[in-house]
Amino acid sequence: MIQMTNVSKVYGDQGTVKALLNLNFKVEQGERVAVMGPSGSGKSTLLNLICGLDEPTSGSIKLEGVELASLNDDRRTRLRREKIGMIFQTFNLLPTLTALENVALPLRLQGLRRHVTEERATSMLDRVGLKIRAHHRPDELSGGERQRVAIARALIFRPPILLGDEPTGNLDSATGEEILRLLDDLHREYNNTVLLVTHNDLAAAFCDRILTLRDGQFIKEMRTGRTGISPAGEKSGEK
Ligand SMILES: Nc1ncnc2c1ncn2[C@@H]1O[C@H](COP(=O)(O)OP(=O)(O)OP(=O)(O)O)[C@@H](O)[C@H]1O
Ligand SMILES: [Mg+2]
Repeated sequence: MIQMTNVSKVYGDQGTVKALLNLNFKVEQGERVAVMGPSGSGKSTLLNLICGLDEPTSGSIKLEGVELASLNDDRRTRLRREKIGMIFQTFNLLPTLTALENVALPLRLQGLRRHVTEERATSMLDRVGLKIRAHHRPDELSGGERQRVAIARALIFRPPILLGDEPTGNLDSATGEEILRLLDDLHREYNNTVLLVTHNDLAAAFCDRILTLRDGQFIKEMRTGRTGISPAGEKSGEK
C-alpha cells in the first residue's frame, strides 16, 4: 500500500521549481496504477519520493503503513530493499555481472551466503524464463531478456510494492507486450502493489487505474476496468 498525503516537492532555495504540489493519493494493496503525463510533470520525482531516494518538502508518505520520514537512513535503505522492487527503462543491470549475479546482488547485499543467494536467484531467473541465460552478461542479452533479468532482481525479495519508470520504454512493442504479460502473471502470483510511470498506452492499460499528472498535480483519473491482459500463448523463454 502506498499513501501520500499533501505531498509537495519544490526545488531551489526560493522554491522556484514546484515539481509536485499537494498530492493526495493512495494505491491499495494489490492495485495497479499508471501515472502518465508530459515531460517535466513530476513523474520521476514522484517515484524518487516513494522509493525514499529523495524527501518531500512537505507532506507524508506511507509505505505498507510505515511513515518514511520516521525512519533513519539505515532503516529506510532496508525498507527500500525489502519492500520495493524497481524496474527502469534502461534496465540498470550491472554490466560486469552475469544475469545470475545481478539477480543475486540484493541478497548478497543483505549478507546472505553465496550458495543460498545462487539458489534463490536461479529459481527467480527460471520464473522469468531465463535460466538458460544465467551466465550471460547484460551485453549478451536482448533488451527483453535484460528487462526480464531486471524484473527477477526487482522481485527477489517478493516485495509488496513494484515501481516502474517506463519499463517498456526501450523495447519494441511486441517485446514490451511480452514484458507486460510477465508482469501480469507475476502480479497474479504475488498480488503486489504496482505503480508504473509510462507514456505507453498498453502499459497503462495493464493497470487498474490511470492518473494523469501535469505541472505537479493530478488532473485526471480513469479506471480501465481491466481484469487482466489476455492469457499469454506459448512462453517464449526458450530461444
Ligand atoms: N534536482 C532538481 N533540481 C531542480 N529541479 C528539478 C530537479 N529534478 C527535477 N526538477 C524539475 O522538476 C520538474 C519535474 O521533473 P521530473 O524529473 O519529475 O519530470 P518527469 O515527469 O519525470 O519528466 P520526463 O518525462 O522528462 O522524465 C521538472 O520541471 C524538472 O526540471
Ligand atoms: Mg522522468
